Amino acid sequence: MFLTLFLLPTLHLLHSVTSLPYSNGFYYNNLNGNGNGNGNEIYFNGVRLVVNTSDDLIFASRGTNITLPCHYAYEPKLSTPRKIRVKWTRVRSDNTKESDVLVAIGLKHRSFGDFKGRVHLQMNEPHEVSLVITDLRLEDSGRYKCEVIDGLEDESGIVHLELRGVVFPYQPHHGRYKFNFHEAKEACASQDATIASFEQLFKAWEEGLDWCNAGWLTDGTVQYPITLPREPCGGKDMAPGVRSYGNKHRHLHRFDVFCFSSSFQGKVYYLQHPDTLNFQDAVKACEEDGATIAKVGQIYAAWKFSNLDRCDAGWLADGSVRYPISRPRLNCGPPEPGVRNFGFPDKNEEYGVYCYKMS
Ligand SMILES: *[C@@H]1O[C@H](CO)[C@@H](O)[C@H](O)[C@H]1NC(C)=O
Ligand SMILES: *[C@@H]1O[C@H](CO)[C@@H](O)[C@H](O)[C@H]1NC(C)=O
Repeated sequence: MFLTLFLLPTLHLLHSVTSLPYSNGFYYNNLNGNGNGNGNEIYFNGVRLVVNTSDDLIFASRGTNITLPCHYAYEPKLSTPRKIRVKWTRVRSDNTKESDVLVAIGLKHRSFGDFKGRVHLQMNEPHEVSLVITDLRLEDSGRYKCEVIDGLEDESGIVHLELRGVVFPYQPHHGRYKFNFHEAKEACASQDATIASFEQLFKAWEEGLDWCNAGWLTDGTVQYPITLPREPCGGKDMAPGVRSYGNKHRHLHRFDVFCFSSSFQGKVYYLQHPDTLNFQDAVKACEEDGATIAKVGQIYAAWKFSNLDRCDAGWLADGSVRYPISRPRLNCGPPEPGVRNFGFPDKNEEYGVYCYKMS
């Protein structure tokens, strides 16, 4: 977009135009009442504001700090610094809703919502307005818009942030297709995870996830990933892919859910204990070890990011029994790596237990 030279309506102003100092190839004018109100708003001709972000996907892990790069420039270059405003917003996957992350004018900035106190601008280089997000959360994945506003000119670029993570299907103890959308979100949160986005499920499908039950995603659609087409899962003749039931009613319709978990500080381990334990004793045994019983999202993250591998079934916090295999072998389930699931046995049955400790 090109800045336009303002047509000045009165002779008086025309006079001031003709007597303007000539500098750097541009006509500077004292037209005011715009923008920062200091009377130095400058209109100039043929200068372009350019905002430059990274096209590459930026990958990060939960709990770390990340910088989303953004620079701006004037083409051709200006010799005088100009006052700008910067606005970072979060762009939702449906492309409509935006929410403010940070707004900055000069050295003052303000952050919003979940980002309050967790974001600031990095201005190490001239014309740098990168966004730093500290203590990354699972929900921070997504697209961010860097917008630079100079008077009437407004340019922006998009940065795409993805957390390294793992997607897993989840259903509760009372069986298949029991969650409405809101319960699905809560279920993931209770397992130290968040409801997965379509992009996250798609990536998991590319990496081989095959699941024949449909689950909620964060955009309110219900989908399932098929790698090996077969009759009970949408038909043998359909191509592999992520199949969608489309948008479903968030209160009335019930499905499973796909959750997303990322790496974390701390560790998950199989508790060394002389006996197998019922569920209640398993919870206690972890506590006595200075830990808590592990959640489903934690065992998936440990399996994916720490190669946790243990051929012993153990209780988890939701009352399910599972075990993580990263090196498949005889008598430890199917030939693919994965977290094996025994479902939700009676709580009096005895198994081992997986604990989680903040290290
Ligand atoms: C935009 O970014 C690229 C890569 O970081 C860099 O090579 C280029 O010079 C930048 N352009 C501007 C106008 O800042
Ligand atoms: C992230 O940034 C915060 C605040 O600047 C700092 O206290 C913290 O140590 C940083 N964390 C990491 C993992 O670098």
